[in-house]
Amino acid sequence: MAKKAGKLPSTEREYVDVVIRDTEVTMQGLATPHTYTPEKKPFRFNQEQVEELALAVELDMNAMLTGPSGCGKTQLVLQTAAELGRPCVRFNCNGETRVSHLTGQMRPAMVEGALSLAFNAGDLTVAVREGYWVFFDEIDMASPNVTGVLHPVLEEGNRTMHIPETGETIKGHSDFRVFASGNTVGYRAKHRARFAGTGPLNSALLGRFGMVIACGYPSEEEEIERVLCHVPDLNPLYVNSVCRIAATLRKDKSFHTDFSTRSLIQWARIIEARNKDDFRSFELAILRKLESATDAKVAKKAVVKLFALEEDGEKESKP
Ligand SMILES: Nc1ncnc2c1ncn2[C@@H]1O[C@H](COP(=O)(O)OP(=O)(O)OP(=O)(O)O)[C@@H](O)[C@H]1O
Ligand SMILES: [Mg+2]
Repeated sequence: MAKKAGKLPSTEREYVDVVIRDTEVTMQGLATPHTYTPEKKPFRFNQEQVEELALAVELDMNAMLTGPSGCGKTQLVLQTAAELGRPCVRFNCNGETRVSHLTGQMRPAMVEGALSLAFNAGDLTVAVREGYWVFFDEIDMASPNVTGVLHPVLEEGNRTMHIPETGETIKGHSDFRVFASGNTVGYRAKHRARFAGTGPLNSALLGRFGMVIACGYPSEEEEIERVLCHVPDLNPLYVNSVCRIAATLRKDKSFHTDFSTRSLIQWARIIEARNKDDFRSFELAILRKLESATDAKVAKKAVVKLFALEEDGEKESKP
C-alpha cells in the first residue's frame, strides 16, 4: 500500500501525487517540472530514507543529512526533487561562501536611462519567495557569519528573510523547504580532522533542523543495485565482487578509510571500460587514494584474496 506523505498547501501551482521509484512513498510533486528541477541521474532509492525525507517535507521541518563521504546524501535530495519535478537550488558551502552569495547584492544597473544601483536577488532570496527546495551541501564548511544569517529562514513554520539592501522582509512560500548535509555532524564530529575545512555546527544552527536523516552505507544487496544502475551493462558478477570488498573492508576494524559508494561506482566503471577486473583497475580507482599504509595493505590483501588476483597481474579466474 502506498503511503501518503509530503502534503503541502495548494497555491496556484498544479500538484500531482508521485510514488517515488523503488519505494512505496507518495509525495506531492509538480505537474510540470520547473527550470530548476535537477536532472534525473541513475539512482536507487531507499524506502526508509525517502520516508524520513517525506516526513520532513510534510512537517515543514529542515532536514540535516549526515553520514560518511560518498554514501548518497546529496543525490538523495537532488534525485527526490528530480522525481517530483520540484525546483531545488544547491549551495556548495565553503569558507569563501558569503552572505551576499546567498541573499544577493546591489549591482550597477540602468534605471530610466541613468546608471544606478539595483538589488540583484541571490538564489536563496528567489527560493524563499518562489518556494524552491534549497540544499546547503557541506554546511559544516560554511562560516558561522553565514549560517547565523540563515536563522530566520530556518524558522520552521514561520520562515522569513530580511533584505537589508531594500528594507524588505520576505515571507517564505509554503513550498519552500531546507535540506543540508555535513560529514561531521553529531556523532561523526570526532572524525572532523579527516574533513579539512569543516567546523563544529553551532548548536543554535543544528537545533533549527527538526530532523536528522542518517545516511549510512547500504546493505551489500542494496549497494549492488546502486552500482548496477550506473553500469547496467557490466557483468553483475563483477559488481558483486567490488561490493563484497567494500562490505568486507567496512567491517574490518584495522581499515579506517571511508569506502564510499562513489569509489565503488568509479571502480566498476573502470572495470567496464578496460573490460578487466585486474589489479590495475583496483589500483586506479581505490588503492592510490588510500593515504594510510596500513589501510593500503589491508585493502590489497582483501582484493587479492577475494578476486583471486596476482598483484599487478591478470585475474586467474572470472568471478
Ligand atoms: N542510492 C544510490 N543509488 C545510485 N547511486 C548512488 C546512490 N547513492 C549514491 N550514489 C552515487 O554515489 C556517488 C556519491 O553520492 P553523493 O555525492 O550523493 O554522496 P554524498 O554522501 O553527498 O558524498 P559527500 O559526503 O562526499 O558529499 C554519486 O555518484 C551517486 O550517484
Ligand atoms: Mg555531498
